[in-house]
Amino acid sequence: MSDKIKLSTESYKGVRDFYPEDMFVQNYIFDTWKKVLESFGYAEYSASLLEPAELYRAKTGEEIVNEQTYTFTDRGGREVTLRPEMTPTVARMVAAKERELAFPLRWYSIPNLFRYEKPQRGRLREHWQLNVDLFGLDSIQADTEIISIAYNLMKKFGAKDEDFEIHIGSRKFLKELLAKLGIENESDERAKKLYKLLDRKAKIGEAEFENGLKELNISFPEVEAVGSSEDISQIMKLLNDVDVKSVLFDPGIVRGFDYYTGMVFEVFDTNPENKRSLFGGGRYDDLTAIFGGGKISAVGFGMGDVTIKDFLETRGLLPKYKSATELYICTLDKTFLKPAQKLRQSLREQGLNVAVNLTDKKVGDQIKIADKQKIPYIVVVGENEVSSGTYSIKNMETGEETKVVIAGITGIIRSHS
Ligand code: HAM
Repeated sequence: MSDKIKLSTESYKGVRDFYPEDMFVQNYIFDTWKKVLESFGYAEYSASLLEPAELYRAKTGEEIVNEQTYTFTDRGGREVTLRPEMTPTVARMVAAKERELAFPLRWYSIPNLFRYEKPQRGRLREHWQLNVDLFGLDSIQADTEIISIAYNLMKKFGAKDEDFEIHIGSRKFLKELLAKLGIENESDERAKKLYKLLDRKAKIGEAEFENGLKELNISFPEVEAVGSSEDISQIMKLLNDVDVKSVLFDPGIVRGFDYYTGMVFEVFDTNPENKRSLFGGGRYDDLTAIFGGGKISAVGFGMGDVTIKDFLETRGLLPKYKSATELYICTLDKTFLKPAQKLRQSLREQGLNVAVNLTDKKVGDQIKIADKQKIPYIVVVGENEVSSGTYSIKNMETGEETKVVIAGITGIIRSHS
């Protein structure tokens, strides 16, 4: 083998490496998701990222299936897809155990998903997506609960009511609109173009939107005249009852999947420089039917880690990095490694997270390592500490030092964190 080959250290296009500081942010987002979902009574599930390719052909939508899936043939000749979304998987899981499961089901998951997209701000080729779904209820109460969770997630992340807007639309409304326009089914070219145009409405602005409508021979008043659907106004009322703010009816909300059948919604950032969709979802009552069993009503949404992280970053809402390691034990020289390891053992038993110096570096340089790794406390083990059994615990942020016996160390560190 040639020793001249140098591999790139860059990650594959459109995916991310997570260094400890990135992992800290990722964990914060996941922990917040989990806390909120469990507080609403949702149970966590998971599945493999590999699925048979055919799972997506039925209902996911042409753009994703034809242009965005990572599909390959395995060694046994089977076509396999890296899941581009979780909804078909969860529908498959629910359909598989339809008889055993106690409906209504409240389920959540945090899968990584793969889409072959042109990487750009907010769009990558691998992202993690909180999936929240409620199965077995075809009611506006269920729709309301789902939107209410979306709202409460934003609040838990520290967003203010004016920082975001929840736009609620309806596939039923769109069907009525098509009927009014004399278009018989949703797969009609004119219908597809209209949906695409509605989907892009927020991005392209009023003038271009109205032009697009003209090209389809539809007048703007015609779109508006179909008006707010009855269901949506009721959902709005129920949302008001549970103190959910920032919601509005938006007939332009379509969403890109073929499986949505009723209420659909999309949460937007209101920052004028970043008026983007953050996440969304809706009702899909027919998806489980592709597995041949009964029809199971469902409503839910997917919230990506990339867009929420950008949102929190631009609003200054991300927590500051803190190392999970609470104490770094420096050694005066290598003869003190043994007592240092002993000290670590008793502190670990008390529940503290502790790292011990293993280098031959001078104490000053050991402290620099701890500082760079943002470990909040250090202690130096030398002759005096070993003979007296007292340790000087230094707070790296304030410089304050406290002398204590072993039993007091955890108390000092925990009293500040
Ligand atoms: P989706 O709109 O395709 O819906 O994705 C939901 C969210 O995932 C997006 O709004 C965005 O936050 C994030 N997301 C999607 N694609 C990417 C990407 N390439 N890079 C970064 N973030 C991305 C669904 O996937 C539905 N299955 C959600 C659902 C669950 N509906 C009902 N239940």
